[in-house]
Amino acid sequence: MGREGGALLDSRLIDDLRRVVGDRWVVCERDSVVDYLLDETPDVVRPQPSSDIVVVKPHSAEEVSEILKVANERRVPVYPVGGRTGLVGGSIPTEPGIIVSMERFKRIEIDEENLMATVGAGVTLGELIEAAERAGLFFPLHPGDEGAFVGGLVATNAGGARAVKYGVMRNYVKGVEVVVPTGEILRLGGRLLKNNTGYNLMHLIIGSEGTLGIITEVTLKLYPRMKHSVTLIAPFSSRRDAIRAVPKILRSGANPLAIEYVELEEILKSAEHLNERWPVEEGFSQLIIILTEVSEDSLYAQAEEIEHLCKESGSGDLVVAEAREEQDRVLRIRSNLYTTLKPDVCDILDIVVPPSMLAELIDIIEELGAEYGAKLPVYGHAGDGNLHAHIMKVNGHAPEYFEELKRKIYEATVKLGGAISGEHGIGETRIKDLKLALSSKEIELMREIKRAFDPNNILNPGKVVGRA
Ligand code: LAC
Ligand code: ZN
Repeated sequence: MGREGGALLDSRLIDDLRRVVGDRWVVCERDSVVDYLLDETPDVVRPQPSSDIVVVKPHSAEEVSEILKVANERRVPVYPVGGRTGLVGGSIPTEPGIIVSMERFKRIEIDEENLMATVGAGVTLGELIEAAERAGLFFPLHPGDEGAFVGGLVATNAGGARAVKYGVMRNYVKGVEVVVPTGEILRLGGRLLKNNTGYNLMHLIIGSEGTLGIITEVTLKLYPRMKHSVTLIAPFSSRRDAIRAVPKILRSGANPLAIEYVELEEILKSAEHLNERWPVEEGFSQLIIILTEVSEDSLYAQAEEIEHLCKESGSGDLVVAEAREEQDRVLRIRSNLYTTLKPDVCDILDIVVPPSMLAELIDIIEELGAEYGAKLPVYGHAGDGNLHAHIMKVNGHAPEYFEELKRKIYEATVKLGGAISGEHGIGETRIKDLKLALSSKEIELMREIKRAFDPNNILNPGKVVGRA
């Protein structure tokens, strides 16, 4: 498809877009467009955005539908964007085209009786957490950056901390309103806890990274607010000791909301970056365990059991954060790790293995680090078997071993029964690695699904399944 040269974005197209959303919601000025071109992908692997982009800001599914019809007719690429907190270049417009920003989809409706929230795609994670809390309910998941948009969280099936007890985004989503690239509006699922009516298209949309449709509204499961909560931090002298405690905790019958793994050097840097104090200054590795329970007795029984298991695995004394502010601070410092490291990172991996294989994975990362003389900081969602290993810049640049080392980590992960992405998705930066993890038949089926939804390949073209 000839998409070079910017001829696609002619004045007739701009006029059509203005007719759909109104003049003030079509942005062509370079100075304003530039704010929409990037996400949080590390600069070494980040794809180059096109310079020939118009941003439109619809506020209803009907407007999104009209935009997609116009684009589909003219074969113009469309890139849906939310909070742009992604790490794999998934929302970066790599060809001349239209960015559809979902920032005006701000509706929030809390259904207290059904324990659900129906929210617009442009509601932020922070706003959702707050709205649930105001209604006396709880949205447990915490995929890091509270500026992320709900539409993006669903489109990427986000995870983050606090996914151990209730699962990842997919486990929360009950309904999705989505506009497919040919312009039809689909309302999939609903306020239902069970639904076996045919193939589950809703679950196909979840995690499709903006390639199958533009999500406009979602219905999410909420939980009753737990009255009691505590955050434990256990310091260990080695990665292996810390990681070996994880399957024991999972087996113990304790039911933690989160089991996060961090390393002291990086978490201290993150605290400093926020001008905060991290409460535990010992150990090479630490586990952060969050418990939430209805009864105080159950909370403390679990905390004691976890303390015992951590100590048995070699941990020093655990620090217990009970005050809400203190627990929020711990989560804030943990969530800021990537922002602190980002300038020095070539790539942040988000490999996932069965939790029982974590210790082997961490040993392989140690061995590969030693083999290449590379420091590979690790943190992540240990309770989900999902770790972020970072390949760092050397003297400000990607070292020549960068791609080779990354491939070796991926190959080792797959050998352990793992997958190359447990959280961040494929986007643009992981496409070349897909074949390490999936068979050619699987990739072909995915491409056929893409064609069925998007026959002219206009929606986020080239992402996830590449250019077939
Ligand atoms: C985190 C993001 C980077 O876990 O996934 O902090
Ligand atoms: Zn993460």
